[in-house]
Amino acid sequence: MKLVNGFDLINYAKKYGYILPAFNTTNLEMTYAIAKGLTAADLPGFIQISSNNLRLSSPAVIAAIARDAVKASDTPIGLHLDHGKSFDDVKACIDAGFTSIMIDMSHLPFEDNIRESRRAAEYCHFYGVPVEVELGALRGKEEDIVNEEDAKTDPDTVAEYVDRTGCDLLAVSVGNVHGLCLNPQIDIPLLSKINDISTVPLVLHGGSGIPKEVIHEAKKHGLIKINYGSDLRREYIRTFGEEYELDHNAHDVIHLSLKAVENVAAKACELVKMINE
Ligand code: G3H
Ligand code: ZN
Repeated sequence: MKLVNGFDLINYAKKYGYILPAFNTTNLEMTYAIAKGLTAADLPGFIQISSNNLRLSSPAVIAAIARDAVKASDTPIGLHLDHGKSFDDVKACIDAGFTSIMIDMSHLPFEDNIRESRRAAEYCHFYGVPVEVELGALRGKEEDIVNEEDAKTDPDTVAEYVDRTGCDLLAVSVGNVHGLCLNPQIDIPLLSKINDISTVPLVLHGGSGIPKEVIHEAKKHGLIKINYGSDLRREYIRTFGEEYELDHNAHDVIHLSLKAVENVAAKACELVKMINE
């Protein structure tokens, strides 16, 4: 199958009642693993890469790998820019054939966040690609971006923000945390309040460590997409780390890389099944 346009993927999820996982990739192995995990589960979702990771795998490179990774799959899979940090990254990803985009201007003051998000949304919509934006900020560590404090999404600003940005998905801060936080306190009443106001579906970042019961509850309050990064990265690194612990002279890259693909794929498969149980 070809990579699926983000609007089609969102509509597919709405029609069949799925939550879409968005799994973060960094490189070739993780990209193949994510496609393999979704295919094994026969469930839809996103391969996504953050602006931060484009330093290693350029938009054109990761798009070529993603297209190859999904071509034998029958389940709908999209390619998403995660935490898009600049308009240049947005344009480069659209040029490369990404099927949805996140522009993350959540660190900016309200008006600046709206202006930059709207600019990205207008650009992407011209190409028929949906846009995720973020209101509020998450605590935790998204690779080398560290935030000590969170700023929960203020429901009073949601209607104006969604309307003026023209976004298609809204990422919220409701106690979700980036990184391997084992006990995030998701504020379901706040999520519910935001969902009552928002005209677009909601996204939770920081999926690693959120219990399945909480995710199932969040689904009743507008959740359609949940991001997983750390859970997959840990599987990838664990594969090499365990071998190195056994043998400090380990130097068999191909077998370990193939094993890493299997381990990351198994985790992606487990997570997409769990959220859609
Ligand atoms: O954008 C990526 C995610 O929000 C990943 O969060 O590493 O806590 O799963 P996580
Ligand atoms: Zn995130």
